[in-house]
Amino acid sequence: MGTKFNLCDFILFGGHGDLAFRKLMPALYHLCKDDYISEDTRIITVSRRNITIEEHIELVKSKLLEYIDDFDEEFFSKFKNQIYLVNIDLNQNQTFENLKNILDEYPNRHRINYLSTSPDFFGQICQSLSYWKIITDNSRVVLEKPLGRDLKSSQELNKKVLNYFKENQIYRIDHYLGKDTVQNILALRFSNIFFLPLWNANHIDHIQITVAESVGVEGRWDYYDEYGALRDMIQNHLMQLLCLIAMEPPCSIDANSIRDEKVKVLRSFRKMKDEDIKEKTVRAQYKAGSSEGESVPGYIEEDSKQSDTETFAAIRIDIDNWRWNNVPFYIRSGKRMQKRNSEIVIQFKSIPHSIFSVDESIISANRLVITLQPNESIELKLMNKIPGLSESMELQQVDLELNSPLKVQRKPDAYERLILDVIRANATLFMRLDEVEEAWKWADTILEGWQKNLTPMKKYTAGSDGPSAAIQIIAKDGRSWNDE
Ligand code: BG6
Repeated sequence: MGTKFNLCDFILFGGHGDLAFRKLMPALYHLCKDDYISEDTRIITVSRRNITIEEHIELVKSKLLEYIDDFDEEFFSKFKNQIYLVNIDLNQNQTFENLKNILDEYPNRHRINYLSTSPDFFGQICQSLSYWKIITDNSRVVLEKPLGRDLKSSQELNKKVLNYFKENQIYRIDHYLGKDTVQNILALRFSNIFFLPLWNANHIDHIQITVAESVGVEGRWDYYDEYGALRDMIQNHLMQLLCLIAMEPPCSIDANSIRDEKVKVLRSFRKMKDEDIKEKTVRAQYKAGSSEGESVPGYIEEDSKQSDTETFAAIRIDIDNWRWNNVPFYIRSGKRMQKRNSEIVIQFKSIPHSIFSVDESIISANRLVITLQPNESIELKLMNKIPGLSESMELQQVDLELNSPLKVQRKPDAYERLILDVIRANATLFMRLDEVEEAWKWADTILEGWQKNLTPMKKYTAGSDGPSAAIQIIAKDGRSWNDE
């Protein structure tokens, strides 16, 4: 149970969209039910649809029933009083007066403007909010991705919002930062002494980050085709994971201290020349295959259009700083992979000398595996004696599980954490402008190289582990992807 002090007006633009129904409303429902948000908070859906408030409440209810497992009729009968609807056409500035009238009832309330619309509307929405003097010092704005397709478009987009909101009022969502295990990286690294001396090039051989999805583009072909794996997943989600693993200890847990350290990591990425793009990047597209026992079409057949958009990418990143000298970071992400599996692997170096008579190759180097999906877990792989009386000491690898022994009744979704943090005005888990820009600078270099066809597009079968070139990218350094 939480506390009932987080009171605000929560304005949900794009409130009848897929994300709003699948993630945002369920998150708000649970936050209210668990008393993290005051029952006086108003959840104001902005929509162009011409429906009554009763119809809207019925729609919310039907979607909650669809997307959550623990719908509580009795609670909903109270929750529905927090639900408001305002009819706005985002292209019609005068329709924003409807919103102003509602918000003016509580002029001093904190206002959270959650923009779950296409980014094409961000500028217009902010402009209309400003025109109607809806933006106050107590206002915040939440931006959903995609935040641009490259550095230039991202700068233009951010500038439109920054014309009306200050940087400290802007919350750029990366839902990976709301995942509990991702936050646990900070706890693991900075509240345990034994990782401190080991977390560097002296003891770590390399790091792997994999975000593999078994699903395809799920009816979002047109969106996805404009973006591809590098823009859709790597530039944001994988970069955030990498930064948390690679950053120096921040001087405190506050938002700017953490974000200062993350941005330093991005600035330390070794600049990729044409040769590096050829050797250290792989892009690929899935062709027909099978997923979870069913035949599935290839990416191109899904929309029968020609496309050179990658649905898979693997990249070796080198970080030029003292901590990570000669420690490669191998990252990969793809759709229609064999299984859903997202993990970070910290591969430690081998022991310098073995005193055991067993074959040295039996002594596996220690490995820390942080799994985000499908189940969240943290495991440290250690060597241990096989119990028994055999004359020579026999060894085996065992897993030390670092999962929290505390059983939580329901595991909150990433969006619950992020929405609550916006309401609490805690920006630690949101991306600052300079982080977004640095990540784009790096991605742009690769995208430009791909446009020059420095790395030819490979194909991989849907339901496989990706193209063989992705195995090569790590194998040529004498290493292999974690496949346990
Ligand atoms: C989104 C991407 O940001 O993240 C999707 O746009 C992707 O393409 C999704 O499927 C993956 O999120 P999760 O939390 O299921 O790994």
